[in-house]
Amino acid sequence: MKKTVLLTGASKGIGYALFKLFIENGYNVIGTSRTETKLSSTDNSAEHIRLDLADMESIKKFEKFIIDSEIKIDILVNNAAIGPDLNTSLPDENSFRQTFDTNVTGTVFFTESMLNHLNENGKIINISSKMGSIAVCQKNDSVAYRMSKTALNMYSKILTNRLLGKQSIATIHPGWVKTELTENNINAPLSKEESAKNIFEFIQSDYKTGIYWDAPEKIEIEW
Ligand SMILES: NC(=O)c1ccc[n+]([C@@H]2O[C@H](COP(=O)([O-])OP(=O)(O)OC[C@H]3O[C@@H](n4cnc5c(N)ncnc54)[C@H](OP(=O)(O)O)[C@@H]3O)[C@@H](O)[C@H]2O)c1
Repeated sequence: MKKTVLLTGASKGIGYALFKLFIENGYNVIGTSRTETKLSSTDNSAEHIRLDLADMESIKKFEKFIIDSEIKIDILVNNAAIGPDLNTSLPDENSFRQTFDTNVTGTVFFTESMLNHLNENGKIINISSKMGSIAVCQKNDSVAYRMSKTALNMYSKILTNRLLGKQSIATIHPGWVKTELTENNINAPLSKEESAKNIFEFIQSDYKTGIYWDAPEKIEIEW
């Protein structure tokens, strides 16, 4: 039987590349984002549902869709995030609130609302960043973005403890990837397809729950 993947941030960047890869590999894929995800005529095992993680009503509406459609999820990939203060040096209140609304509050409450719909032995993949590691941080930029990923990492740890023996959790750094996350990302060494392939291969592998994984380097990251 086909496995079902639920993926946030499927409209562009790494999420869109992952969306295509899961379809190509025979999964049923539900992609979500605020704007449409491009679906080709051959993508008949995929659909796009609108979801704004910064809006609790949107999260509730999405859960109703999952309940009404009796969907059971095998893999939840929390990929959507924003980084309005990336490459800036001081915290700015607006971008701080926006970042936390999407990357932390939205991602946590969305995940909580999906837990009842996740199959036994299901997987939760949190796309974080090495920028969220306290252990390796030697810089002082991107305050909100870094802190939001550190908070996501802690949520991964808490979920790992809560779901032990049932579902597994992995926290992934996708590498520095050419996407629209910031203007500076044009200089990134990895294409979104390369990054998605690394993440996809990791998800298929026999990893231990609770891992914080550098997908391109294929090594664990210190928290
Ligand atoms: N690119 C890198 O170098 C890099 C490095 C480390 C970690 N990451 C992480 O990798 C993940 C993907 O990043 P990316 O570079 O592919 O970014 P991206 O190209 O900017 O794509 C972000 C995705 O998130 C969605 N999104 C943003 N805000 C949302 C909201 N409020 N509700 C729902 N969806 C929302 C966007 O769709 P809509 O705008 O249509 O909603 C889009 O599909 C993120 O978690 C990012 O932090 C990226």
